[in-house]
Amino acid sequence: MNKLNEKKILVIGSGGRENAICEAFKNSSQPTQLFALPGNAGTKNIAQNIENININDSQAIINFCQDNQIDFVFVGPEQPLVEGLVDILEQRKIRVFGPSKKASQLEGSKIFMKKIADENQVPTAQYQTFESEKPALEFVKKIGFPCVIKADGLASGKGVIIAQNLEEATQSIAEILSGKFGDAGKKIIIEEFLKGFEVSYFVICDGTNFLPLGFAHDHKKVGENETGLNTGGMGTFAPSPFINKNLEDKIIQKIIVPTLDGMNKINAPFRGILFAGLMIDGENPKLLEFNTRFGDPETQVILPRIKSDFVALIESAIDADLGNFKIEFDEEKKLVCVVICANGYPEDYKKNIEIKNLRELEKSLENGDIIDGVKILHAGTAEKEGKILATGGRVLNVIASAKDFSSARQKAYKIVDMIDWKEGFVRSDIAKKVENF
Ligand SMILES: Nc1ncnc2c1ncn2[C@@H]1O[C@H](COP(=O)(O)OP(=O)(O)O)[C@@H](O)[C@H]1O
Ligand SMILES: [Mg+2]
Repeated sequence: MNKLNEKKILVIGSGGRENAICEAFKNSSQPTQLFALPGNAGTKNIAQNIENININDSQAIINFCQDNQIDFVFVGPEQPLVEGLVDILEQRKIRVFGPSKKASQLEGSKIFMKKIADENQVPTAQYQTFESEKPALEFVKKIGFPCVIKADGLASGKGVIIAQNLEEATQSIAEILSGKFGDAGKKIIIEEFLKGFEVSYFVICDGTNFLPLGFAHDHKKVGENETGLNTGGMGTFAPSPFINKNLEDKIIQKIIVPTLDGMNKINAPFRGILFAGLMIDGENPKLLEFNTRFGDPETQVILPRIKSDFVALIESAIDADLGNFKIEFDEEKKLVCVVICANGYPEDYKKNIEIKNLRELEKSLENGDIIDGVKILHAGTAEKEGKILATGGRVLNVIASAKDFSSARQKAYKIVDMIDWKEGFVRSDIAKKVENF
C-alpha cells in the first residue's frame, strides 16, 4: 500500500548506473516509491520494474507517469535524451531530470560539441570535420600519426578509432563514412592525438547553477593493463588522487563554465548531469568529449560519496534551485567498482545463464554478515521464475568502499570470488594503480 507522503520516482534505464541511481534514491531520508523502466534484477530489489513499456514509447511513459502520479522522472541513458524524451515529458508538465534534446547534442553530436567548444574558447584537440574520404585522407596525411577518427553521432562507444598508420586510417574512414554506424557516421571528425592521462568529471546543472560531483577513473579495455578491445567499462574508482584543487578550478573555469555559458547563449540551457571526459597533460586539461548523463560504471563510485540527500539534490536541480543547495561529500571514502562480464564480452557471449547464489549473498552483505561497505549492483540481469539470469555482456558490479583504495580493492575482489558464476570474468587490476592512495 502506498503511503501518501511517499515520493514516486521513475528511473528510465536498465544498467548498473540505473541500479546505482535507484539505490541513491532509496538511501534518501525521504520516503520513496521507486519504479525502474525497464530495470533489471537488481533494481527489482528496491523498485518496481516496469517491463511492459518500451523505453522508446514516450506516449506509454507519459500515460504511466500520469496514471501513477509520478513526482519526477530521472532519465539514465543517452539515447532517450538525444531523442528528446525530456522535452516530451516537460510539454506534458511531467517533472523530469535530464537535458533537453537540444542540450543533449553536446553528447549526440561530437561536431556540435566542438562548435560550442570553439565558440567559447574551451580547450580541445585540433580537428576538422569531413563527409567524404578524399579530403579526410589528405588531412590525415597532414597531421600524421597517431590520429583520432570519430563518428559524429552516438555509436555506443565504438565510434572512435585511434589510427596508427595510413592503412588503418584509410580503412576506418571508409567504414564509418559508408555506414558502419548508420547516420551517426555520415560525418566524421579527425583530430590530433592528445597525450596525458584521462579522467571523468561530473557536475550537476540546473540551467543557471551547477555543483561539482567529483572525479572518477575508468578502465575501458577488456584486458589487464589496458589491452584488447574497448568495452563499456570494466571497472572504476573514485575519487581521483591525481587531481588537486588547483587543477579542478582550472577545469571548472576553462571547460565547465564557458560550456554552460555557451549553451545559455544559444538558448539551450543545460539541465542535468554534465560528464566531461578530460585529458590531463601536466597542468593542462583538455576536453575529449561531453556526455550528457551519468557514466556507467562511474556513477557506481560517484554517488556513494554524496552525503546530501539525493532526492533533495535532484529535485533542487529540477526546480533550478541548486544555487541554494549545500552539497556534502564523504571525503574520506574511496570506492572501487569491479564489473563482472559474461565470457566472450565485448564480442559474442551466452545469454540467460543462471547466477546461483546471488540473492543469498546480497542478503548477507545487506546484514553485514560477511564484510561491511560492499554492495552488489546489477547491470545485464533479469529475474525469471525465481532465478537470476545473466542477460547482457556486463552483468554485475561489485562496489566496495574503504578509507584506502587497497582495502576497497581487496573487499571488492573477495566478494567477486564468492559469486557462483563460472561463465563470467573480471579484470583483476581494477584500481591497482592507486593501491598506494
Ligand atoms: N584526441 C584524442 N587523443 C587521444 N585519445 C583520444 C582522443 N579522443 C579520444 N581519445 C580516446 O578515445 C576514447 C573514446 O573517445 P571519446 O571522445 O570519449 O568517444 P566515445 O566515448 O563516444 O567513444 C577516449 O576515452 C580516449 O581514450
Ligand atoms: Mg568517452
